[in-house]
Amino acid sequence: MVKKLNQKSFALSALVAASLMAAGAFASDKTEPRNEVYKDKFKNQYASWHDTAKSSEIVDVLAEDPNLVIMWAGYGFAKDYNAPRGHIYAVTDVRNTLRTGAPKSAEDGPMPMACWSCKSPDVPRLIEEQGEDGYFTGKWAKGGPEVVNAIGCGDCHEKGSPKLRLGRPFAERAMETLGTPFDKASRKDKQSMVCGQCHVEYYFEKVEGRKGFVKFPWDQGTTVESMEAYYDAIEFADWTHALSKTPMLKAQHPGYETWQLGVHGKNNVTCVDCHMPKVTNDKGRKFTDHKVGNPFDRFEETCAQCHTQSKEFMENLTAERKVKVNELKLKAEDQIVKAHFEAAAAWKAGATEVEMKPILTDIRHAQWRWDYAIASHGVAAHAPDEALRVLGTAVDKAANARVKLAQLLAKKGITEPVALPDISTKAKAQAALGMDMKKMVADKEEFKKNVLPKWDAEAKKREATYN
Ligand code: HEC
Ligand code: HEC
Ligand code: HEC
Ligand code: HEC
Repeated sequence: MVKKLNQKSFALSALVAASLMAAGAFASDKTEPRNEVYKDKFKNQYASWHDTAKSSEIVDVLAEDPNLVIMWAGYGFAKDYNAPRGHIYAVTDVRNTLRTGAPKSAEDGPMPMACWSCKSPDVPRLIEEQGEDGYFTGKWAKGGPEVVNAIGCGDCHEKGSPKLRLGRPFAERAMETLGTPFDKASRKDKQSMVCGQCHVEYYFEKVEGRKGFVKFPWDQGTTVESMEAYYDAIEFADWTHALSKTPMLKAQHPGYETWQLGVHGKNNVTCVDCHMPKVTNDKGRKFTDHKVGNPFDRFEETCAQCHTQSKEFMENLTAERKVKVNELKLKAEDQIVKAHFEAAAAWKAGATEVEMKPILTDIRHAQWRWDYAIASHGVAAHAPDEALRVLGTAVDKAANARVKLAQLLAKKGITEPVALPDISTKAKAQAALGMDMKKMVADKEEFKKNVLPKWDAEAKKREATYN
């Protein structure tokens, strides 16, 4: 009975909203994309959300580790890749990265619309207005004047309400695949699921009729092996490696998946317990700290809620784990980088597709496993043993590829070790791949100067028609 009533009133309000939308009064009846609207109504939450601006540092990961340029040769990430920072920068950063290029018109590439999907509450708004078909159609530049508000209230909350929601239908479907639809989930599960809209592994579907839709590859499970099996079964590749010609997988950031495998995930200690603790304001009222960032910044409200160890002890422990993960990560990279160059040498020496196939499969799996571990930001804190286990299998797969390569190269008369170019800095590694960085940077500057102001002006005009 209650359900029926709800449906009825929902249908009615949808009707009203549809007519208002036609009049240009509303963006969407279900999503308010503008975070500023809640500045006064939810003062503490808004102010703490805005504090994500304090995490402003840009860390150039390719400069820190030029191996990555080689591992991503032929793919956008070899151009530019920075470490994640505060949520408030999400739209700025996706506009500014060289990966999104310098499109001059809405039809210009290189990236598809799907690239906006984890950046903004304008995404749920657009999906509500246009359906997924409409939203996912076209190039990234099409969304420029539309997707302008950084990750915020509308991504995790129902309109104007503290009630949690998943703003993205593709995330809802994925959670259902794992067994628990969002509206059936417990409060604790919901707290992690809202983060799991974005901090997950995903890919852009390539099947007829659904090209470029975001999908989480969870149909067979969420471990590194089950997602690998899923991708292999559909013969999916994000790109073909420029050196080894391997059909590659780019792991995104399977943080939700790896968190589940750690001791906290297993005990259902949620993302929110550590990253969005309950805190007390100056009037003694409790609220949720929306400055999603480093849990050690609020140790008393996070770790110390459950643990008796000191902050120093816990920080040191986490730091030690980062060092261990980083050591094995570099070992895996060393093997995988060499395998890419040796595979290129084998092709050059006349290796055939048939000879290369098992080798390329090993390289594909090795790098996928390395990436799954590393791209799960925070993995050394969330699930260090899983990270080490997965990196171990990456080293193993890369070693298998290199043994096979040594045999194949010998068969082709090459017995000397394959010489590597100087890849000791980001610039040298990019030059070794023949990448014209000067032009890319110049085009981007031009884009920032000429295109971005137009997008902002158009957005401002559109938003001025909202209530
Ligand atoms: C990344 C997801 C996320 C974003 C973005 C977000 N919230 Fe929240 N919000 C939460 C979670 C999680 C809780 C705690 C829910 C619980 O206690 O179960 C919460 C709680 C709240 C509450 C309930 C009172 C409280 O403090 O616990 C209000 C009100 C609220 N948020 C407002 C906002 C506003 C306003 C914005 C935008 C400025 C915003 N939220 C952005 C996830 C988010
Ligand atoms: C709508 C997608 C989305 C949602 C929902 C989301 N995130 Fe993020 N998160 C991102 C993106 C994108 C970045 C990187 C932003 C950048 O660097 O510009 C990020 C960055 C972060 C960072 C790094 C912050 C820093 O200061 O270095 C942490 C930690 C984080 N998210 C945790 C969470 C947690 C916990 C939740 C759930 C409460 C959550 N995120 C929900 C997309 C999302
Ligand atoms: C037990 C506490 C805990 C839980 C639960 C937890 N995290 Fe973390 N997370 C941390 C710690 C600690 C760090 C590392 C902070 C540092 O760099 O020292 C971290 C790091 C991160 C980072 C990397 C930030 C950066 O700038 O590199 C992201 C992203 C992140 N967590 C997201 C999540 C998401 C999403 C979830 C839930 C699926 C989650 N975390 C659950 C404690 C936790
Ligand atoms: C909501 C409660 C809760 C919070 C918050 C929490 N933990 Fe835990 N933690 C647990 C539970 C439960 C276990 C498993 C304990 C057991 O098995 O005896 C655990 C285990 C651990 C362990 C031992 C297992 C391992 O990984 O070696 C460490 C270390 C740890 N937590 C660190 C942290 C840090 C650091 C933070 C803050 C960033 C934190 N925890 C926040 C509940 C919490």
